[in-house]
Order: sequence, then structure tokens, then C-alpha cells
Amino acid sequence: MKPKLVRTIAALRRETARWRAEGLTYAVVPTMGAIHSGHTHLVTEGLKRADRVITTIFVNPQQFAATEDLGKYPRDEDGDVRKLGKAGTHLIFSPAPEEMYPAGAATTITLSGPAKVGLEDRFRPHFFDGVATVVAKLFIQTGADFAMFGEKDYQQLKVVTRMVSDLDIPIEVIGVPTVREDDGLAKSSRNVYLTKTERQQAIAIYRSLQTAAERIRSGINPQSATRSATRMLMVQGFKVDYVTARNAESLAIPQHKDEPLRLIAAAWLGKTRLIDNIAV
Ligand code: PAJ
Repeated sequence: MKPKLVRTIAALRRETARWRAEGLTYAVVPTMGAIHSGHTHLVTEGLKRADRVITTIFVNPQQFAATEDLGKYPRDEDGDVRKLGKAGTHLIFSPAPEEMYPAGAATTITLSGPAKVGLEDRFRPHFFDGVATVVAKLFIQTGADFAMFGEKDYQQLKVVTRMVSDLDIPIEVIGVPTVREDDGLAKSSRNVYLTKTERQQAIAIYRSLQTAAERIRSGINPQSATRSATRMLMVQGFKVDYVTARNAESLAIPQHKDEPLRLIAAAWLGKTRLIDNIAV
């Protein structure tokens, strides 16, 4: 089925009003396009919960710093529409930047809590305010019942969940496990930047997290397990931003022995920044 593509908020609302009139529920899958099977898996999970699925495609300038890859972020709308149609998306919302941020736009969301725990926020200071602002807009524009987010971006999932609760937005945020390549590398739009050699090295990020998780489960303290993981990545040629064990819900530094833990990592391989995380 070829999904309908709309570019304006007015056209989007005409479609969703029709669904509501029919008593249908719907989920939204926010993306920046460059669709891969991680994204289409969110669509599949959305279809399990709701009658209809909207996927949004918007490369959000507000969440890129001046030095980051906004200009060269991979774009392929025709390919995206085809893949999303195959996955069963009913509607695609792909607005122009002027539709999302008309001249004079002056409101952004400011965050604390899981957005300020010294992980992505430390390396990308404006990132989550940009994400939260666009995601809040998409939630209000779509009025969806469910929002599907990948655990791949674990801090983002926690930030969005917190925001929805704090702002009383009537939507249920659903976290979906990370989709991986056969060798374990997390699927990501940025993997296309990796050279052939880097692609082979890249698997080390997941392996180092798995090793650290096993060591923690066998009684080694989280700090020393993540230090070893950092060393392992450095030896493999990564420039490590962080490898850390955090409380799986608050993302705070663990204080007690039996807290649920999440291992979270970000590291550069050449010019590409990779992130990953796993439960302990
Ligand atoms: P993007 O990187 O395109 O990711 C869109 C959604 O797909 C996010 O929820 C992300 O966690 C999920 N995703 C990406 N790779 C995945 C994988 N391998 N397995 C499972 N889910 C995966 O994240 C963003 O866009 C933006 O910040 C956005 C939320 C759209 C706001 O602009």
C-alpha cells in the first residue's frame, strides 16, 4: 500500500480528523528519514498497538549544532516512502522547515532531569532542547495515542517520556528494543558514513558493552567494568566520549548495589559518532 504523503499541518489534521470520526486509534513514529529497518520496526510495533500509523520525516535543524552534520544528513524521500509503505505506515508527514518553524517562532522547551545527566547533553548541549521542542510539536500536531521511540537513543527515550509526563501531553510513549545488524552493530542512519574497515571495527562498541554487562553480572563493580570497556574501545581505535553504567530509569549515577542498570556508550570511529546501550 502506498502511504499518503502530506506536507502541511492542516492536511495532516484533515487525515487524523477522519480517523477520529471513525473511532480509530493511531500511533506516531517520529524520524529524520533515511529510513532503515530500525525505523520500520517502530512502524511494525505501532501497528500492534493502534489501527493506524503516521511516520514523520523531518531533519530538525534545531537539534544540530553548527559544527554537526545537518547539511550532509542522508536524505532520500522516495526511498523512505517506499520502505515505510512496505512496513504498513498509513500516512507520512514530511513538512518543510518553514512549516515547522515559521518566521518569528520563538518558543523552545527547556529540560532538566534525564536531559542533564552528563551523557549526550555533555557533548551536544543544545541537542535535547531541540529534540523536545520538535517532538512536542509533532505530538500536538498529530494528536496521536501512542508514540514509538527506539531504545537505541536511550537518553532521548527517557527525556521524551519525562516531557510527556511533565507537560500532561495525552500520548503514551512506547520504547522499542534496538534493531541490530547480523553482527550486532545497532542500525543507524549514520552507519553509511563508515568506511569498510571502520564498519568491521564498529562492532566493538556492542561487544565491549556485552563484556561489561557480563562482568557486572559476575560481581565486578560497574565502574571498573566500564573502565575496561573504554580501554578496549581505545585500543581498537575509537575516540571514546563515554562508556558508563547508569540507573536504567533516572540515568543518574548508581548509588546502590541492586539498582537496575543500563550501560550506555558514545564513541567516534574516524569522523562518525556511534552510540549504543544495553541492559545489564
Ligand atoms: P532518527 O535518528 O531518525 O530516529 C527515529 C527513531 O528511530 C528514534 O526513536 C530512534 O531511537 C529510532 N531508531 C533509530 N535506530 C534504531 C534502531 N537500530 N533500533 C530501534 N530504533 C531505532 O531520533 C531521531 O530521529 C530524532 O531525534 C527525532 C526523535 C525524530 C526528533 O527529531
